[in-house]
Amino acid sequence: MLIAIPDVLDAAGVARVRGLIDGAGWIDGNASSGHQSALAKKNEQLPEDSATAREAGNLVLDALSANALFVAAALPLKVYPPLFNRYAGGDAFGAHVDSAIRIRRSSDFRVRSDLSATLFLADPDDYDGGELVIEGSFGERRIKRPAGHMVLYPASSVHRVEPVTRGTRVASFFWVQSMVRDDGARRILFELDQAVQDIAAQIGANDPAAVRLTGTYHNLLRRWAEA
Ligand code: NI
Repeated sequence: MLIAIPDVLDAAGVARVRGLIDGAGWIDGNASSGHQSALAKKNEQLPEDSATAREAGNLVLDALSANALFVAAALPLKVYPPLFNRYAGGDAFGAHVDSAIRIRRSSDFRVRSDLSATLFLADPDDYDGGELVIEGSFGERRIKRPAGHMVLYPASSVHRVEPVTRGTRVASFFWVQSMVRDDGARRILFELDQAVQDIAAQIGANDPAAVRLTGTYHNLLRRWAEA
């Protein structure tokens, strides 16, 4: 399931994050890569244990926890502390699949990557190229979103970032371990959740049918979720 989540950060939030990270000490992006990824990747990244990455990452985490669409779509159990990367001057990231398990260095914090997330921190007008291309049974999706918008996609999908031929593409990226591991089950829950909310808005959340549907959502979640 590929889901666009608009307005995770507003303009002030994007400016705050960019103000923290733009002048920080960027390093070769291969610091976080698995072997196959390292062969394909050319970009820069903030060191994940830097104070700047942690501070900016906490701003992203706060925004995520306040975002109802993210919570409904991802059903997050654990979120890897957000990382930051940037691409300029022909930088790109060739086709790869994200590692299944991400372990935070010098800690026992680990996340199974059910979902990958890219939060765009530069506007499409700021750079050429740099599309996030996700391969799926639907073919290829080429994604470029306004600053502050995010896309969530299955970490199991082959994806790449096209070369940036002008300007700089800045983004935050991270992985989510969902309470519901199976992508198909998570999609059913998300669609049911959205439909229940639509119906509740029309007939009232306390209408007996709306109450039963809400109960069905939670009973499915109880059946499928690990918490
Ligand atoms: Ni990736």
